[in-house]
Amino acid sequence: MDDDENIVIIPYADFNRWKEIMKIIAEFGWFYAEEDYDRFLKGFGEKNFNGLIAVDKKSDKILGSVVIGFFESIENSPALVSLGLYIVLPELRGKGIGTKLFKEVINDPRFVNVNLGLNGASYMSKKYAKIFGYDKFPNWQVCKSKIKICDINLNALQNDSDIDIVNVNDVDYQKLIEYDTNIQGGIRRDKFLKAFLDTKTNFAKIAVNKNGEIVGFGNIRTGVNNQIGLGPLYSNSKSIAETLLKQILESIENLGSYDCFRIFPPNINKDADEIFSRLCNGKVDVSGGNSFPQFTKEIIQADTSKIFSITEYGLNAA
Ligand SMILES: CC(C)(COP(=O)(O)OP(=O)(O)OC[C@H]1O[C@@H](n2cnc3c(N)ncnc32)[C@H](O)[C@@H]1OP(=O)(O)O)[C@@H](O)C(=O)NCCC(=O)NCCS
Repeated sequence: MDDDENIVIIPYADFNRWKEIMKIIAEFGWFYAEEDYDRFLKGFGEKNFNGLIAVDKKSDKILGSVVIGFFESIENSPALVSLGLYIVLPELRGKGIGTKLFKEVINDPRFVNVNLGLNGASYMSKKYAKIFGYDKFPNWQVCKSKIKICDINLNALQNDSDIDIVNVNDVDYQKLIEYDTNIQGGIRRDKFLKAFLDTKTNFAKIAVNKNGEIVGFGNIRTGVNNQIGLGPLYSNSKSIAETLLKQILESIENLGSYDCFRIFPPNINKDADEIFSRLCNGKVDVSGGNSFPQFTKEIIQADTSKIFSITEYGLNAA
């Protein structure tokens, strides 16, 4: 292929490069944030986060990208190498650039024999299974749905008076990790969650019962294209999820200045459907379809009855 010699695949560790990728992603319609770079880098640690880009040697323009994050095993927790942000500029697809990026990023000597996972777009999912062995599927998919901010009616949601809503710093962080680990299938996200919840541009709240136990937590972050996105929203019950959602949205003072609210519920959580539908009087836009969590060695068994929105669909299984 003639193009080959003009294209290099290189690692990047640079926020300016990330911002370029965010532009490509914003045009494609995925939900990410500029701040996610910092969240991923800090959350995985430099040695467990890797991004590759395909670059045109002459113009230095980014043509495609892929990133991976490695959730290490802690106290025998399952390890997982997650892959995301896999994209090539529309006009250059079908020329082998994507496959090169993909092969190079997973062909990492640190990750031999580690379970690999990704959230596959519906039209790619079977191909990942066939060619790269991502053939273990849980019984659910991630909905990539949206609600227009102008359709949100916060009065449609109720508060559960049996719980208190507090801030992340008000709870024992280790207890939060325990809660998180049980719900999203045993993966330990000790560093990740701290980085993900602890920035100036997001809104996170924890639900605590009268015994002081954590019974839910939720987070909204701002992202590309003047959108906000929900993730995670985990809770022990529908009424707690509803309370968290209401109070987090109410805490966003300039909520009306955003265009769109992105939500990522498991398709089998009917309680989540009902809450989101009530929030916008039935106007949930589901045209984004579903993505498929898929793994090479073992399925990460998340508790979807407690997941009302996954964390984010790039590098997190749930
Ligand atoms: C997916 C994408 C990155 C592939 O990039 P690309 O440069 O077009 O890929 P290639 O030219 O190497 O693809 C050659 C073939 O291999 C397939 N392919 C690409 N990467 C693959 C992978 N990791 N596993 C299996 N098949 C793959 C392609 O779909 C194509 O299949 P086809 O011949 O049946 O059409 C690109 O299509 C894209 O940007 N799509 C939009 C974003 C998106 O949906 N990304 C996937 C998110 S899960």
